[in-house]
Amino acid sequence: MLVEKNVPLQALNSFRIVAKAFSMVRVASQADVQTVLANAELAAQAKFVLGGGSNIVLTGDVKALVLKVEIMGRRLVQETGKAFVVEAGAGENWHDFVQWTLQQGYPGLENMALIPGSVGAAPVQNIGAYGVELQDRFDSLDAIDLQTGRLFTLNAAQCAFGYRDSVFKHSAASGSAGLGLAGRALITQVRFALPKPWKPVLGYADLERKMADEGVTQATAGQIFQWVCDIRRAKLPDPRVIGNAGSFFKNPTVTPEQCADIIARDPKVVYYPLLDGSIKLAAGWLIDACGWKGKTVGHAGVYEKQALVLVNHGDATGGEVMTLAKAIQISVYERFGIRLEPEPVLV
Ligand code: EPU
Repeated sequence: MLVEKNVPLQALNSFRIVAKAFSMVRVASQADVQTVLANAELAAQAKFVLGGGSNIVLTGDVKALVLKVEIMGRRLVQETGKAFVVEAGAGENWHDFVQWTLQQGYPGLENMALIPGSVGAAPVQNIGAYGVELQDRFDSLDAIDLQTGRLFTLNAAQCAFGYRDSVFKHSAASGSAGLGLAGRALITQVRFALPKPWKPVLGYADLERKMADEGVTQATAGQIFQWVCDIRRAKLPDPRVIGNAGSFFKNPTVTPEQCADIIARDPKVVYYPLLDGSIKLAAGWLIDACGWKGKTVGHAGVYEKQALVLVNHGDATGGEVMTLAKAIQISVYERFGIRLEPEPVLV
């Protein structure tokens, strides 16, 4: 087991933020994690689990021992009359895994094509796009308790999935999501149940437009995959070219009264009524309406084609990103009375 020291993290986070890890170990199996935990000195250190680094904002150097997850592998676990159950190692790239499932003839993940990051990070924030969330296709996951070394398996209910949320984003002390496993669990494998027969999930305006443009009436999973890739490439920055962490804020939920109040002042506000009676607002629209598109603070900026995405125009520091994020939060609050909550994990 190699403990790397003073590791530059710029290439290991999709925001390309300049920071370093004081120490880091790459883990390629459950046994590797257990080897770390069996070492008294390493076991005693606080730990930070790093996957694809696509949903974090490094606000400084990382003092905790970084466990870089490189657990690979993908396979069909079981085919029943109702579903294909497929499994992937936490270190697999999410998009490559989605593409592999389609090539193998196991459709169901196509709406979530091209989301940056690793398979292991996907359940942490319950990734979602174009009408499908990870929880809709989730079967179970395996993880290791970093305090005890114990292996355990969680089903969907135990993961306490919410909108861009799960038990892995909450600490036990916060008590707001069951167990609270933030900083405590390292996900090793994730299993997905891809329902049979496959049904397309359309209904998103962007997808409907693609169908109409191409004159398609019965979309295939492969076509949806391609459309989602095209839509994302057209409006989201490619992290290999411009550093970013996807949507920087969650879409906020308000009461119908609050929404009516905003509509009265800004009739163009974009909103979606939810099943529970509350209303979700498009944070990108709110930020755009405050004039932020294309603005910068130091090397950090607001993407010119999607105001919900903050980008790194050079060697931005976490400080610059957070200064920009706070300025956006203040202006949205002053104009709309809404507090935007960051979506990525702040490290
Ligand atoms: N809008 C603007 N100006 C902007 C950005 C957006 O007016 O600068 C408007 C758009 O015109 C649209 C609405 O806001 O009417 C919503 O925009 P969009 O369809 O791009 O989706 P979003 O709500 O900004 C969410 C997810 C994305 C996901 C897309 C598609 C969150 C926080 N973000 O974005 O997920 O890809 O829907 O399903 O829920 C991510 O989580 O990192 C992410 C990229």
